[in-house]
Amino acid sequence: MEKVIADQEILDSIIKPTSIAVIGASSKPGKIGYNVIENLLASKYEGKIFPINPNASEILGFKVYPTILDVPEPIDAAIMTIPAKLVLGAIEECGQKGVKGIIVITSGFSEVGERDLERQIVEKANSYGMRILGPNIVGVLSNTNKMNASFAPTLPLPGKGALISQSGALLIALDMATFTRKVGFDKLISIGNMSDISFADLINWLDKDEDTTSISLYIEGLKDGRAFMEACRAAKKPIVALKSGVSEHGAAAAASHTGSLAGAANMYKAVFKQAGIVQASDLGNLFDRTLAVSLQPEFRGDNLLIITNGGGVGVLATDAAEKYGIPLKFAPQDVQMELKKYMPEFGSAKNPVDLTGVASAEWYESSVRNSLMHPWVDALTVLYCEVAITHPMDVAMAIKKAVDESGVKNKPVTVSFVGGVESDKAMQWLVENNIPAYATPDAAVNAIAARRGRSVKPHEARERS
Ligand code: ACO
Repeated sequence: MEKVIADQEILDSIIKPTSIAVIGASSKPGKIGYNVIENLLASKYEGKIFPINPNASEILGFKVYPTILDVPEPIDAAIMTIPAKLVLGAIEECGQKGVKGIIVITSGFSEVGERDLERQIVEKANSYGMRILGPNIVGVLSNTNKMNASFAPTLPLPGKGALISQSGALLIALDMATFTRKVGFDKLISIGNMSDISFADLINWLDKDEDTTSISLYIEGLKDGRAFMEACRAAKKPIVALKSGVSEHGAAAAASHTGSLAGAANMYKAVFKQAGIVQASDLGNLFDRTLAVSLQPEFRGDNLLIITNGGGVGVLATDAAEKYGIPLKFAPQDVQMELKKYMPEFGSAKNPVDLTGVASAEWYESSVRNSLMHPWVDALTVLYCEVAITHPMDVAMAIKKAVDESGVKNKPVTVSFVGGVESDKAMQWLVENNIPAYATPDAAVNAIAARRGRSVKPHEARERS
């Protein structure tokens, strides 16, 4: 039976609940039922927390109720941290209580062959109008809602996108990696076995969520391909997906991990293209492309201009442009004439525009501002090699000033600084100021290609006509 798309309000109760019961809350540090309460507290969750455990009276300062039916107030979401065989009974009680959404952290369902049990918990929940996220998940994390409803150690570095991951362990790893990669997320959602709530449900919800600018997916296999396609095609926000399990052995591994069917690389590639999804090639690329799509507008048109102070990085970026399907064209004469003003005699105003190693922050500022404002330029990648005569932070600030003062908001800009610690700091500052910056020219061009990779969707075609 094909599922109806989960009601927006029910997903509200799971992703931004105002009250949470933890069924299987524990007073023993180290247990998942303890972790979840501890994490809700640490993330400064502002809703109500109701630990449920028949054998405890107080956990981390909260009164404990023997069953959910004993809680005297309404409950939006119930998180299950009890063993699999107890989940069905607990869901029955949640139904009687009038809980709206269920988050089943517990493992031991279809991923280990217990398909009947998984079907039963979904049928039970649905019979009361409740929906299930999971089972076999880490939980839900949201910076905006100050909610770490999971056993992942911390909320991610704040960012503007949302990430949905089918793998729980990977979600935790990516959560931690947001701090080292300096790419944040607003929300992380673990989807696990997808017994009920699917990628499609979450994409629909996130597309309407005002705190989310882009949606990133880690997919092992889809259970309802048609609904997924429809949700992606309808989504107005950019979607980046990393699909694993595309090799024969990888597909078998995915089946035993989250009980889902993986498939051939080419099929997914075609599906993603049709659905307007930007594909990521690996975990690093998922971060890189997420950064670009969460911060930058779509690359409409064909003309990418590259501005650099180093011929070498310019050539590398040119190679990358061809590799990612954006062959560079020379800028028209009027663009070249203007840019010639901001370079020495021996510079080049073609494309890449080489301001040369003597380029000042002011030259960067003028060339970026004037290029962005020219109708021929559809997208801009700015490269900088750390040289003695300029400080990386001055160049970063010049780029940001130029972008702001140009008033142009509908052309994507990416940056790459190649250098040392000061270049890293300057790139971090750029990211904090909504300009994606990368350690290599290849990554900066790949990221701008991600804003172009999305095929035109029906609503975009309408907007353009
Ligand atoms: N209502 C409320 N509490 C109950 C009930 C009930 N009906 N029955 C038992 N409890 C209590 C228990 O008494 C216990 O509390 P205590 O610590 O005070 O004794 C608590 O609930 C938990 O029950 P346990 O039997 O101790 O279960 P345990 O904590 O060992 O395991 C768990 C439960 C964590 C859900 C386990 O079954 C499980 O699924 N673990 C894997 C979860 C996981 O990794 N999910 C993500 C997968 S993705 C990834 O790879 C990271």
